[in-house]
Order: sequence, then structure tokens, then C-alpha cells
Amino acid sequence: MKIINVCGARPNFMKIAPLMHAYKAAGGFTPILVHTGQHYDDKMNHWFFNDLQIPPPDINLEVGSASHAVQTANIMKGFEAVMLEHQPDAVLVVGDVNSTVACALVASKLCVPVIHVEAGLRSGDRTMPEEINRLVTDTLSDLLFVTEPSGVENLKREGIPESKIHFAGNVMIDTLHKFQARAEESKILDSLELSKKAYAVLTLHRPSNVDDPETFERLLSVIDEIQSEMPVIFPMHPRTRANTKGTPVGNRMEGMQNLRLIEPLGYLDFLQLTTHAACVLSDSGGIQEETTILGVPCLTLRENTERPVTIDEGTNQLVGSDPDKIRKAFRRAIDNPPKGKIPHLWDGRAAERIVATLKKWNP
Ligand code: UD1
Repeated sequence: MKIINVCGARPNFMKIAPLMHAYKAAGGFTPILVHTGQHYDDKMNHWFFNDLQIPPPDINLEVGSASHAVQTANIMKGFEAVMLEHQPDAVLVVGDVNSTVACALVASKLCVPVIHVEAGLRSGDRTMPEEINRLVTDTLSDLLFVTEPSGVENLKREGIPESKIHFAGNVMIDTLHKFQARAEESKILDSLELSKKAYAVLTLHRPSNVDDPETFERLLSVIDEIQSEMPVIFPMHPRTRANTKGTPVGNRMEGMQNLRLIEPLGYLDFLQLTTHAACVLSDSGGIQEETTILGVPCLTLRENTERPVTIDEGTNQLVGSDPDKIRKAFRRAIDNPPKGKIPHLWDGRAAERIVATLKKWNP
């Protein structure tokens, strides 16, 4: 079976990696890896291919940054040519970024079956670009691999036939399991002079937080308090850096002594950093899942989550941007950290299950 596999942005790389390894282990597949080039900086892209031992992409569309419409359109134009040249049996997309929806659209219009890994997640918030990408991708998909029970329910409610839905577990957790030991060799704690469980990690990149100075300002008021208690390490997404440089918000961050603004980290360094954090504050999707597996308290700086299992069973708390809520949740995380348990099938073998299903599939 010839399958084109699509990745484009940082959160895709840890999902595509175990699949590329699983095809090889299973045999009988001709996987082609297409990188759309949505993320292109070394720190957002190249380091991950190294850290995760992903084979270099067979094709790179090099689309780069642009508005949503232009970026999506550029990916579609480039990907259509790839499809016509390679004539795959199926296209596999992961996650919820613009590359995911763009390539699903192209494939389905060429009547090539679409496989979506990490299907069914819903925040219910259509102001999030990722929510639109999820809805459209799932509608177009022929095989939908789901990470948590809410995903199955969401898809059934939207009328997706049960025969297309497979609860396979979480491929991102496959990657975490595989590289956990290697991440322990990272020197990041030494180089930042940090002691285990005595610092917090912060990540912020969602438009709803970083494009709105008022919200950002609100978040900073409580981050200011936290950094007076323990160092807060903030590997800054390029979008956040660009949005805050020279602004009052940016200047306020620069003025906080214990808030350490650093460049984005590679996978292994970041995994080491989160593993030993006292608490993680983030608006990311994937970090909610990784902290659940690591048993590290996570405060999600968003009003909603598409990953409710991390709250129901894991170590995640949804706190939005309300300083009071964040303050209280932080105290709870430090003084009485949640125990949490491992969600069903987040066992490091999701890619293996997906590939076994693909073997039996007749597209
Ligand atoms: C994208 C995804 C988001 C994911 C995030 C992880 C969509 C809609 N969003 O958001 O779901 O959580 O990736 O990082 O697909 N930039 C660089 N270098 C890069 C990439 C981006 O400097 O390698 C800067 C550019 O100024 C760009 C901005 O970051 O305009 C935003 O990048 P983009 O890929 O459009 O969206 P993200 O915010 O990264």
C-alpha cells in the first residue's frame, strides 16, 4: 500500500515519527513523507527530525508562513501536484494544523481515501482555527483513528459511521515512551541551572492569548507572582516573540527577573524540562497529554479543551486567563498535586495498532 504521510508543523512531528517506524516494522507499505514546510525554522522543524529519528521528508513543499487562506491554498497547490505524480492508495494526515486540512481536501477531491490520526477531538470553539481544521478533516476522512473516548462520541454525534472509527490510542505518547530515557541524558537542567521540581515551565502561542494584549497582560500579572516564587522557563514560540517584541507586554516580561525567556527547544530538551517541572502552564494541545503521562501538574491557559480525558483522568486543570483561577490552581498544583492516571491505550503502541488496521484495510 502506497501511503503519502503529511506533516507540516511542530506538533505533527511527534505524531508522524512512530507511524514511519511502524510501517517499516510491519512491512508491505510504501510510505512517502511529505513536509509542507508550514514550520521551517531549525528550532521548530529540523531539530525534531534529528531528535525523533524521522527519515528526511521525500518531498518538501516549502510553503512557509502566510495568512490562513494563503497558507492553506499554497499547501493545496503544492500537494495536488505531488498527488498527481505519486498516485498513492491513501493519504494519512495527523493532528489539526492547516497542513492537515489542506492535504485532506486535496486528497478527497482526487477521490483518494484519507486517514486521520488524532480524529474526533472537539473544543466546541469555532474561533480556534484548529477546531475548523478538525471538523473539516474528519468529515472528509475514510478512516478515523481516535485517541480518547470523547473523540468516539463526538464523531458518532456528527454522524460518522462507526465502521470508520477506530479507538487506537495516542501516537504522541508512543514518541514520549520511546524517547523518555534518551531525554534524561539532556543537559538542559544543568545549562539553565535548575533543580528538579523547583521551577515552572510556560508555553504560550495561541492567537487568543498572544494576539490580544489585554489577555496577555492578565496572564502576566499572575506569572509575575509565580516567578517571584520559583523560576519560570518560557521557551518562546516565534509567533509570541514576534508579537511581543518592543511592546509594553514584551517589556514587562523582560523586566521579570525570574522569568527566563529562551528560544524554542528541541524535543528531548523540552521533554526533560517538563518531566522535572513542579508545574507546567500552557495553551498547547499536546502538552496537556504529555504532562498527564508524566504525572506533572498542568494548568491549561484556555477556556476550553478538546482533550477532556486529561482533566477527567490526568493532571490537567483548565484555568483560562483569569488570574484568580490561575493563582488558586497553581497553589493546588504545588501544595497538593493531582495524582492522575494513564488514559486507556496511551501505552506506547498506538502506531502499531494503526498500522495493523491499515494492513487489513481495503481502501
Ligand atoms: C501552528 C498550528 C497550531 C500549533 C502550532 C504549534 C495552525 C492553524 N496552527 O500554529 O495548531 O499548535 O503550529 O507551533 O496550523 N513562524 C516562524 N518559524 C516557523 C514557523 C512559524 O517564525 O518555523 C512564525 C511566523 O511568524 C508565522 C507564525 O510563527 O507567521 C505563525 O506560524 P503558523 O504556522 O502560521 O502558526 P502557529 O502559530 O505556529
